[in-house]
Amino acid sequence: MEFVRLDGAAVTLVFALEQGGTADCVYLGARLPEGEDLGALAAASARGRHESQPDVPPRPGLLPERKAGWSGTPALRLIDHANPLAGEVATDFRVSQWDASARELWIGWQDARLGIHVDRWWRIRAGDVVRVSCDISNHGEGNFTLDDQPALVLPIPARFTGLTTFSGRWAGEMRETRRTMAPDGYASQSGIGKPGFGGGNWLILDDPQAGEVLAAHLACSGDYSTRIDCDTKGQGDGRGVLQMARGGSGNGISLLSGTDLDQAEAVFALAPDRSALAQGFHEYLRAEVLPARKDWGPRKVHLNSWEALGFNLSEPGLIALAEDAASLGIERFVLDDGWFGGRRNDQTSLGDWFVSPDVFPNGLAPLIARLHDLGMDFGLWVEPEMVSPDSDLYRAHPDWCLHVEGRERPTMRGQLALDMSCQDVRDYLFGRIDALLQEYPIAYLKWDHNRDLFPSTPCQTEGYYALLDALRAAHPRVEIESCSSGGGRIDFGVLRRVHRVWPSDNNDTIERLRIISAWSQFLPLEVLGSHVGPSPNPITGRRLAMDFRAKVAMFGHMGVEADPARMTEKERETLAAHIALYKQWRGVLHSGALHRLAHPDPDVTGMMVVHQGKALALVAQTAFSPVFDAAPVRLSGLDPAARYRVTLPEPWPPRARHYLANPDAWRAGLTLSGAALMGQGLALPLTHPETAWLIALEKLS
Ligand code: GLA
Repeated sequence: MEFVRLDGAAVTLVFALEQGGTADCVYLGARLPEGEDLGALAAASARGRHESQPDVPPRPGLLPERKAGWSGTPALRLIDHANPLAGEVATDFRVSQWDASARELWIGWQDARLGIHVDRWWRIRAGDVVRVSCDISNHGEGNFTLDDQPALVLPIPARFTGLTTFSGRWAGEMRETRRTMAPDGYASQSGIGKPGFGGGNWLILDDPQAGEVLAAHLACSGDYSTRIDCDTKGQGDGRGVLQMARGGSGNGISLLSGTDLDQAEAVFALAPDRSALAQGFHEYLRAEVLPARKDWGPRKVHLNSWEALGFNLSEPGLIALAEDAASLGIERFVLDDGWFGGRRNDQTSLGDWFVSPDVFPNGLAPLIARLHDLGMDFGLWVEPEMVSPDSDLYRAHPDWCLHVEGRERPTMRGQLALDMSCQDVRDYLFGRIDALLQEYPIAYLKWDHNRDLFPSTPCQTEGYYALLDALRAAHPRVEIESCSSGGGRIDFGVLRRVHRVWPSDNNDTIERLRIISAWSQFLPLEVLGSHVGPSPNPITGRRLAMDFRAKVAMFGHMGVEADPARMTEKERETLAAHIALYKQWRGVLHSGALHRLAHPDPDVTGMMVVHQGKALALVAQTAFSPVFDAAPVRLSGLDPAARYRVTLPEPWPPRARHYLANPDAWRAGLTLSGAALMGQGLALPLTHPETAWLIALEKLS
């Protein structure tokens, strides 16, 4: 047995490797001192054989199989094309080689009889995020189908007994459920060709005693399969095994003789608490995933035409909206659905990516010219991967959509999905979008995907990435947003290629606050589109004050998705004031360390971003407080010894401002130490539902 350790800034992983045998991760935790005796470390966690266990107890380790009596799910479930009725092929993978440096380990396994090789890399990256990738190649004679394609296999240290998973639906993304890890484990998969609204490709394990957390994510925009097998029957060593795999979309993934499957990738990170976990993921994304992140300018304030105008588009109407938008401080105008072909409603014309002469008799040029006069740039909505049966594209190429020969072609939102594995389809789409980007100065594409994929294949995601990559290479300055009826396709695979995601179609501030809190656990605020919607909200019907809507929308990539012409003068003033505040603070919000603020009232959500001696916090009360005097809000991430000037940036929430005992002191600023701000906190009026406060801090010494 040999041992390899990988060290991050605050984390250590120790692997035990046995030539011709198994590989295991025998330590995953806080960084160990230099010189730790790794053999002793492994011995300290090993136990002898107990009753009712195979004579040689199985070690599921990093590549679980059935061969030695482990009852969980094998990492590779193969069906032999030559003998499909025989069921799952019996495998015998053994470690053949490995190679390690300080932050990286490669392990190769082989099943000598089948000729299948598995190569897996473990890399500790920025933010101490561990990137795991897995390559599978078939050097043998046989042809196989894999159920799904494994990315991550991780034995879970036994102290992590809490499990938080995410689920959701359209307009209700990322609802957290925390439970104690159950003996029957956990399983979740998508099966709609994309991760979906539920965030099942993310999970967080926690140690309820110490608060330490361990989160994992499958970095892929197609189907996922997540599973935890607990070792309650006692065949293994008592640890559960977490597996994350690219889903086979029901058809499986072929592994033909001579083929090499593209690497499947997952990430995981360990942190002392959920704020530190968020900061690790954000650091990793900013440094290594988001395209050329360091070259991004300030995230411009958007106005999107969808909630304001829907399909009711015309050049004069859009110009009037743009003029209104400019007066509020908007910097980018996004023309949403309805600008192309015969698309006057959502049942037609997807695929006909030609500017509609009915809506724009003079093309898009006059609108864009007016936007530029007003100091705004121009963004355009597209949904390239889809086709409407009622479209010129479909009439010309009815075979270009995903379908089963001889079967019905069921639609969703009146549309079908194009087969992105087909080169002709990709060439057509590239041609159309490239032509638009060449003809018009388009700064931004909102790239949508509104239909689940049925039928689907894993090749669909590769085709989507190939098209996106080709367009990005041809137009590197165009920013792109990933939208999928809201947050239906958000993952680190797509985030390698886009600048922003649309977290939800739900702009209702109370829902959005929850959704942003959940996504920001993994994604930094600068990629999370966050728009002020109309009141009443079209999805929930809820009426919310502009002050509350605007304050919460500042914590993300801010925008407006409402018609300013339908706002009162006071609402416009309040909105403009918050847009100005966002511009003042976005440098901090989009570069700093995010802290989740705890509060005894479960209806109070607090978060704060600290960057280079400055910090801005948002504290929002959603329900009616049971007490008049809410517990003080304790801040986080400050230097305890430093002194800070604390102000409450105006405008203040109209219904709560009169509860401030000492308004002048809050205007002039209080000076307090980091220790006082984090230990005792600030008493804010939070008794009314739908009240939010901003807290600004500046370090003085
Ligand atoms: C999807 C998006 C919306 C909007 C509509 C347009 O639902 O999520 O934001 O763009 O499509 O049809």
